[in-house]
Amino acid sequence: MITEKESPDGLQYLDITNRNATAKIALQGAHLFHYQQHHNAPLLWLSDKSPLASGRAIRGGVPICWPWFGKHFNMPLLPQHGFARTSPFRLLQVNEPDNDNTEVVLQLKNSPESLHLWPLHFEIQVHINIAASLRITLTTVNHDSTPMTISAALHSYFAVSDIENISVKGLENTTYWDALTNEIRTQNGIVTINKATDRVYQNVYDTIVIGDHNRQIDINSQGSGSAIVWNPWIDKSRAMSDMTANSYKTMLCIETANAREDKRKIAPGKSHSLTAILSSRQLLQDG
Ligand code: BG6
Repeated sequence: MITEKESPDGLQYLDITNRNATAKIALQGAHLFHYQQHHNAPLLWLSDKSPLASGRAIRGGVPICWPWFGKHFNMPLLPQHGFARTSPFRLLQVNEPDNDNTEVVLQLKNSPESLHLWPLHFEIQVHINIAASLRITLTTVNHDSTPMTISAALHSYFAVSDIENISVKGLENTTYWDALTNEIRTQNGIVTINKATDRVYQNVYDTIVIGDHNRQIDINSQGSGSAIVWNPWIDKSRAMSDMTANSYKTMLCIETANAREDKRKIAPGKSHSLTAILSSRQLLQDG
């Protein structure tokens, strides 16, 4: 079942329920901000202080960073992570092929405002499949007469029980750029988080697995060769207007990306798709 709703601050979203899960998708930014399998805890983290208002980025869920990830490469005053996440998308299609699956397709095309920020003609489509797992595909189509270079991320905020008790597998021996020290390093063993962490990993092709004390989250990707691991830790969490001092404890961003060396050049008339497939399973607990 799909119901169109509006937040108290006027954000329009789709409220979805099927036999597998519930989900909420804002038309602004094609931003999925809730996904929960029945009988499980929510997969994604959403800040208690997040605005759910038109024109303001949502803090949590899966923001779509496009057409650039992070700061624009030569114009740092342009919006961080691009303009898609605060742009109004058009609902192209909703489909409920059976009781287990719901598919939503949202579209954004160039507009006078986007051409002012980024002078290229484009279309992006975001296909979201709500089922026993969550699948999000971001497709960029170059409608311009010149090649288009994009960087992008499906900026997933995962809900974790306690950041200091999780482990992340699948990034071992890959190199990363540490955004906090501006160094290139190699990942030695599994990732654990006990301080502010902001890294862009390259040549990431394996499943990334978050091990929490009672569940495992699997992150699979297609059309991606990079991943970001981000946790702001205490000071930044406290300083951000849409987080609380303790927000950092229960979230971890692992982003399916085309970032830095993994940016993509799309020829006129061609397209590129970036997909994240997110799933979780409960683990048996001792005792
Ligand atoms: C991450 C970046 O992807 O997003 C971080 O690597 C950034 O550097 C974080 O702080 C949050 O960005 P924003 O723009 O949503 O505050």
